[in-house]
Amino acid sequence: MCTKVREIIENREGKVWKFRDFFYLCSSIADSIMFTNTILHWFATNGRDLPWRHTKDPYAIWLSEIILQQTRIQQGHDYWLRFMQRWPRVEDLAAATEDEVLREWQGLGYYSRARNLHTAARQIVDLGAFPNTLDGIKKLKGVGDYTAAAVGSIAFGLPAAVVDGNVYRVLARHYGIDTPINSTQGKKLFAEFAQSLLPVDQPSAYNQAMMDFGAVQCTPVSPACEVCPLQETCEAFRTNRVGELPVKEKKLKIQERRLTYIYIRCGGKTAIRRRPAGDIWQGLWEPVLTEDEVLLGQAKLLRKDVKHVLTHRILWADFYLLETKSPPELPEDYIWIDEGDLDQYALPRLIDIMVNEIL
Ligand code: ADE
Ligand code: SF4
Repeated sequence: MCTKVREIIENREGKVWKFRDFFYLCSSIADSIMFTNTILHWFATNGRDLPWRHTKDPYAIWLSEIILQQTRIQQGHDYWLRFMQRWPRVEDLAAATEDEVLREWQGLGYYSRARNLHTAARQIVDLGAFPNTLDGIKKLKGVGDYTAAAVGSIAFGLPAAVVDGNVYRVLARHYGIDTPINSTQGKKLFAEFAQSLLPVDQPSAYNQAMMDFGAVQCTPVSPACEVCPLQETCEAFRTNRVGELPVKEKKLKIQERRLTYIYIRCGGKTAIRRRPAGDIWQGLWEPVLTEDEVLLGQAKLLRKDVKHVLTHRILWADFYLLETKSPPELPEDYIWIDEGDLDQYALPRLIDIMVNEIL
């Protein structure tokens, strides 16, 4: 990562001053001012003309942010106009029934947003005024860090930087930051860095400039680098890494899996098989693993939804016991052994738990 990033964040406060430090500090500050000025200048001529940008009404701005949380601008635009026409003030929205709000929301998806919107409208009416601090805004149902910073800065000029996918992308590319944006360290770094860049005298314009710059200019796929006002200082452009930034850490997906086991007891014998290769518990032994309804119908349920956590998996197991005089037909990889010999076979811990309940 470019060392300037750390320096802009820390601002070198409390350090022993050397000329070199002083020089770096000046150049970092100059650099960040150049960056924010360029973004703001770009916004003044290229910013999108959106209806909620012509109002200072916090209700209207908050409504736009909730609608835009998971919705594209064009679709959100139409919904915002309809909501504002039907419920021009927060009191009107609060007085509506939840059903009316849900019906107006129809087609936008993520209906919890509509329910939260309605709840928050009533919270605001109860407060007597729209909250004008970050903490106050964050207490509204459905408002997280991003929405609080957006509403706070746009409606009240609060100095809070928004951090979303657009901001991650623009900062990661311009400053050549390859810390994964979805890592704990990355989230903290980008949040601090974004905040340190915020021109506190114009948070509203700057935040919206970053949103638009990311959405229009420095897009996820094929950004318009050739006509970019930041091209000369862009680290990703200089080092030809535009396509590689921002970096996202591949999170190993935790798989959930259901397993249904039957312990079959037949004349002092039980059926087990060795776990096949290429799956969990390779080479260990297990009782009959089946979804066979007929077999399960004859068996007694011992335990249901036993949770067992492996490194990259969560298992949910059901244990059955089938006591029978005639051995059922099983796939050929099962063998019949004396129940008393079970302790000579290596069993996964989950199966050990099951067997201990039976024997
Ligand atoms: N996306 C989320 N909030 C936005 C806003 N205020 N302007 C443009 N795009 C946005
Ligand atoms: Fe984004 Fe390209 Fe501009 Fe760099 S030069 S900020 S990658 S659009």
